[in-house]
Amino acid sequence: MQTMSNLFQDIIAPLYGDQKSALEKIASAQDRLSYMLLNQESDALGVVIFKSQLSQEFESLGINNAIELKTLFVVNANKNSGVGLGSQLFSQCLNYAQLVNAQNIVVTVSEEKDESLKFFERKGFQRVNALEGKYKSGITEFILVKSLTA
Ligand SMILES: CC(C)(COP(=O)(O)OP(=O)(O)OC[C@H]1O[C@@H](n2cnc3c(N)ncnc32)[C@H](O)[C@@H]1OP(=O)(O)O)[C@@H](O)C(=O)NCCC(=O)NCCS
Repeated sequence: MQTMSNLFQDIIAPLYGDQKSALEKIASAQDRLSYMLLNQESDALGVVIFKSQLSQEFESLGINNAIELKTLFVVNANKNSGVGLGSQLFSQCLNYAQLVNAQNIVVTVSEEKDESLKFFERKGFQRVNALEGKYKSGITEFILVKSLTA
């Protein structure tokens, strides 16, 4: 069975570098909820991680009371995309956000992840800001927000 650590090593580290700090935060589960979607054989199909507290960190962009989606990916996405796994993972975050009366869901996505940008836009997110080199020099990260109050 794949562990969260293996998945982060294979999928996230090539994009964002060393994931030790993120994995420590996931393991201590202090400020975020982490879910792994499994099939009947207990193989990992995808991961979703979001902060559990409402955030005011994006207030300067007019985004208040937001749940911050930190990570969402389908395992072996080139093979397993398009059958609703991403939607199942996203539902976990959306249901939680509605439960805690969040006004927004916010996510940061690399310009390199066009499929993720398209996925979130299909889910009703809009780009509200672009950050040059936030995680990786020369790469733009887009901040996207979905309003839950409209
Ligand atoms: C982006 C990703 C989450 C989409 O997951 P998925 O399982 O294919 O999504 P779903 O099958 O649930 O599709 C949901 C909707 O998004 C749309 N969509 C998904 N991928 C799309 C793409 N590449 N282009 C356009 N639309 C797309 C689907 O058409 C569907 O629309 P609908 O609800 O109107 O039918 C998945 O491809 C993935 O994880 N990719 C890798 C991302 C990655 O490496 N991230 C690492 C950093 S976190």
